[in-house]
Amino acid sequence: MTHGHGHQTGTAEAVPGSPQFWEEFYRARPQVFSGRVNPILAQTAEHLRPGTALDLGAGEGADTAWLAEHGWAVTAVDVSTTALDRVLERNSDVTVERHDLTATFPAGTFDLVNAQYLQSPDEAFPREAILRRATAAVAPGGTLLIVGHGGHATNHAPQPTAHDVLTALAIDSATWDVDRCETVPRVVTRPDGTEVSVPDEVTQVRRVLV
Ligand SMILES: C[S@@+](CC[C@H](N)C(=O)[O-])C[C@H]1O[C@@H](n2cnc3c(N)ncnc32)[C@H](O)[C@@H]1O
Repeated sequence: MTHGHGHQTGTAEAVPGSPQFWEEFYRARPQVFSGRVNPILAQTAEHLRPGTALDLGAGEGADTAWLAEHGWAVTAVDVSTTALDRVLERNSDVTVERHDLTATFPAGTFDLVNAQYLQSPDEAFPREAILRRATAAVAPGGTLLIVGHGGHATNHAPQPTAHDVLTALAIDSATWDVDRCETVPRVVTRPDGTEVSVPDEVTQVRRVLV
């Protein structure tokens, strides 16, 4: 998806970032996001040989669909069954698995693990631990691509930089290459039509072939 900052939707009853919050986030509207592939994923995957892919926090599946249309065998994971239903409506050739990634993680290894804006309004969301777990799901020669909102969260807390994420992955430089670790500006159009540049934090690592 191409989207802006924030996850403020959901009802007052749901604890922000909880599985119920995300379920209500999607149920609130028939389509939440733009439906367009995240550009950094497309730009990255264009240079990779299609294989197996895992889309973590797949949302409505714009990235999953793009990957499937470009020859990847994709497993899409999200905590929201409504989101996963939309993934399958868009492309029935993919596999979906519901996981609360704070508790369970899909089995297997993949040639590409994609985590786009896997962020939560819950300050206790263990994103770093989930992303470390994601490194174990990368096959030899495979890529882990992580893109996150940079700048400041809605509560003004600084978001982790690409370097913060890289440090948190705790990968061994003997068995991993760092292909990308940088802040990339993205132009978004606000509801009033004005354009604003927001930072994306991009961390891309590759498990070396053994
Ligand atoms: C900001 S959205 C990004 C969606 C998608 N990657 C995209 O770029 O369009 C974050 C996604 O992470 C999912 N998510 C949040 N917490 C999760 C958890 N604990 N386990 C699995 N998925 C989760 C949400 O349901 C939501 O679809």
